[in-house]
Amino acid sequence: MRDDLLDLLVCPVCKADITWAIGQERGGEVMTARGSCRSGHDFEIREGIAMLLPNAARDPWAEMVSGIERMVAEHPRIEEALFASDPTGLGPADRFLRVQLLQARGRFELAEREHMDAEVGVYGQHAYSMIAASISNVVERLRHGDGPVFDVASGPGALVREILAGTDRTVIATDLSAWVLRRLRDQLTAVGLPAERLALVVCDARQLPLRDGGVGDLTTFEGLGNIAGDAARVAGGLRRNAAVALLREWRRVARRMTSVQSLFSRTSLVHRVVLGHYGVAALTFPGPLHSLLREAGWRVVDEQAWSLIRRPTPRSRLIAGVRIDGLPLLPTRMSIGWMAAEPRPDRPLSAAM
Ligand SMILES: C[S@@+](CC[C@H](N)C(=O)[O-])C[C@H]1O[C@@H](n2cnc3c(N)ncnc32)[C@H](O)[C@@H]1O
Repeated sequence: MRDDLLDLLVCPVCKADITWAIGQERGGEVMTARGSCRSGHDFEIREGIAMLLPNAARDPWAEMVSGIERMVAEHPRIEEALFASDPTGLGPADRFLRVQLLQARGRFELAEREHMDAEVGVYGQHAYSMIAASISNVVERLRHGDGPVFDVASGPGALVREILAGTDRTVIATDLSAWVLRRLRDQLTAVGLPAERLALVVCDARQLPLRDGGVGDLTTFEGLGNIAGDAARVAGGLRRNAAVALLREWRRVARRMTSVQSLFSRTSLVHRVVLGHYGVAALTFPGPLHSLLREAGWRVVDEQAWSLIRRPTPRSRLIAGVRIDGLPLLPTRMSIGWMAAEPRPDRPLSAAM
């Protein structure tokens, strides 16, 4: 974490300044530090990653990957098949898993060579091209701004990597999982992207460690649906009020929000019922999302979306019960695209809260 970026960060709970006691530094980067706010919330920086979750939470990614690693270690036949020198004989889900495991084992160059084919295999060429076009439009817009870009729910970092490659801006990548951020940094530095423009912050998208208006651009790629989905697993859903609170929190910290996303079509009754049941529908259908954005004080200033039929992602042929994504449940009309939003001038921050 570059020390000039530390000034942007505040306590995610009470939004007060954090006082840092710096431990190790390396080339302008703070590698270790301990911090606390005046209300007594404690935080730290470890391996250059700012840990700003209010409570020590389980790391979902570390647990998932170590589960798959364990399974592979117990079944040498799976290990042999997954790591065959020629991956083209594997099914699409297993090629995808292979890339995840290659990264987990630090084989970033090979993972890099295989990751695009793996994604195309799982999501299909059509969807992959629409996602790539959306990301490239967003990067083009970001090229004209300045200051750091704060990316929410960065995960494997498809968006982060394109912003780093296509602009000269610093990116603050964030996620609930320290494991996934560490892997992202290792993968991006292995392929020569500038680590000095990448900062990593473990935080919850619903409780951001930023000052009011702290960043110009907040971005996310498939953040809305994933945050809602994770909340559903943990706390019985990100229901309407919580979804508005999430978008208000983003409105509090940023002057522009850009989201690349896939959304379900209104006509998909099954998904309306299932996602409604879990309290996640609000952020995954265009109509409700637009109304939530308005309520949270945003106005959509630009958007573009393409419509297509998406199929359930394939299942692993090697590991029983493993599928890459849970949704869609069946072939479904969806849209893939991006939207940019700015604070509504008629709703000052105080009125949006
Ligand atoms: C699959 S990724 C989305 C794709 C990613 N943005 C990209 O550019 O490749 C979804 C991520 O959302 C993260 N996530 C889910 N809920 C979150 C929350 N409340 N706060 C922060 N991150 C969250 C998950 O840990 C996961 O890494």
